Amino acid sequence: MSLPVETLAELREIAARYPEARSGLLPMLHLVQSVEGRVTAEGIETCADILGITAAEVSGVATFYTMYKRRPVGDYHVGVCTNTLCAVMGGDAIFERLKDHLDVGNDELTERRPEDKCTVSLEHVECNAACDYAPVMMVNWEFMDNMTPESAVQLVDDLRAGTEIHSTRGPRVVTWREAERVLAGFPDDLADEGPAAGAPSLVGLGIARTNGWTAPPASADAGSGRTADSKEEAVEQADTSRAETETKQEDSDA
Ligand code: FES
Repeated sequence: MSLPVETLAELREIAARYPEARSGLLPMLHLVQSVEGRVTAEGIETCADILGITAAEVSGVATFYTMYKRRPVGDYHVGVCTNTLCAVMGGDAIFERLKDHLDVGNDELTERRPEDKCTVSLEHVECNAACDYAPVMMVNWEFMDNMTPESAVQLVDDLRAGTEIHSTRGPRVVTWREAERVLAGFPDDLADEGPAAGAPSLVGLGIARTNGWTAPPASADAGSGRTADSKEEAVEQADTSRAETETKQEDSDA
């Protein structure tokens, strides 16, 4: 079965956004996932044809990054962070509870029961750079912060029942295919829903402001511990430092 004509046009549109067409491969693969639900063999061939590269090169990318799925995922793909901080804060317990509750293993898809409106797939994921909200889960790449085994079970039950879910940071959680289309570069205008940064992420900034701490200027010479007053002085310091290093090297060689 061929990809729809509109999809082929959008794949070419993505490739044309970049000076080097092959730079468009990552969003193109997201577009394939938005249409096919996963990266299919046909999707790989099509991307390769459009970009003038081999299917093996496309496949190498599609199998390297974990956001690309070769097997079907659910309408809602649920990730549980089991990286160190989330794990000790409860991520491991959440993942175990969900595997039991959904009766699936890692990277597996639930069967649709008669009462289900949607399917869910489960995966343990690496650090989402959201450790200040540990333990963290994701649904179709939207954050669910400060989760517990109980709230995780409620979440997947709601997803299977087709209940509208919002990220704990605000935005409505869209389906896997809808989210993948956004990652392909076709916005759904939900990006500005919710706060730009939550309170836990701003704690360090607040402490710095209270204490009057500021970052050193970008031109500081970290090696000497002395701060340059101008770009020219920073360059001079760097040259001096390099010359001193070379002299020491010559002395030790001699
Ligand atoms: S360890 Fe889970 S978000 Fe960093």
